[in-house]
Amino acid sequence: MSSGKSFWEMDELRIIIGGMIILGGATGILVLLPYLLLENVRPPEGLKPYTEQQLAGRQQYIANGCVYCHSQQPRDSKLAPDNKRGWGRASVAGDYAYDAPHLLGTMRTGPDLLNIGARQPSKDWQLGHLYQPRAYTPGSNMPSFPYLFEVRQGAAKPGETVVNLPPAFAKPGEVVVAKPQALALVDYLLALDRTYPALPALPVAKPKATTASKEKP
Ligand code: HEC
Repeated sequence: MSSGKSFWEMDELRIIIGGMIILGGATGILVLLPYLLLENVRPPEGLKPYTEQQLAGRQQYIANGCVYCHSQQPRDSKLAPDNKRGWGRASVAGDYAYDAPHLLGTMRTGPDLLNIGARQPSKDWQLGHLYQPRAYTPGSNMPSFPYLFEVRQGAAKPGETVVNLPPAFAKPGEVVVAKPQALALVDYLLALDRTYPALPALPVAKPKATTASKEKP
């Protein structure tokens, strides 16, 4: 019987070194590699930074859990028919240049919203739909968000934004007024418009004509 340690036998030093190798590898793949891939991403020309009001609306989007049912990442036509669904071209990294934290979402109980501002630019529609989704999409299973609105008998005060519901849903004598949270949220939704041309994620190197012809005889 040999008294030496077997190659696989654990001791403190081996455990520590092994742990460092695994940690280092994981950091490289999960932190360093994405950093190197995304470090040169610029905001595309067509993308404007969010305004204060739109950022406040973004907080409402987060607080009300919209991300649990809506994604913000139209996929490539090879992966899903998102473009045919009218959700827009596949998104690229630059489309999210001003998004922190990102709201990509994974669930698609409802449609993708990265281009909802282009698809449905009506502020009236957006407000009314948040107040009562079923007034616009019969059978919709999106929850209504009545606490973002104030329902009152009589008239609205000057400066208030009245929600113009479809006649079947408007109650006589009652007025629905959008609270600042609803107005901010709709401002944010209308800013979701990535219909400008996409920038390539990284600068594409031009292949040299001579080497290209050699590679493909
Ligand atoms: C429980 C899931 C669920 C949640 C939470 C939810 N939605 Fe929806 N949403 C849906 C479904 C389903 C539809 C499609 C039916 C419809 O138009 O109402 C939809 C539709 C929409 C549409 C219209 C999309 C289009 O292409 O016409 C918008 C805008 C929208 N939701 C915004 C929001 C916002 C903003 C929030 C958060 C305040 C939210 N949704 C929360 C399920 C959800």
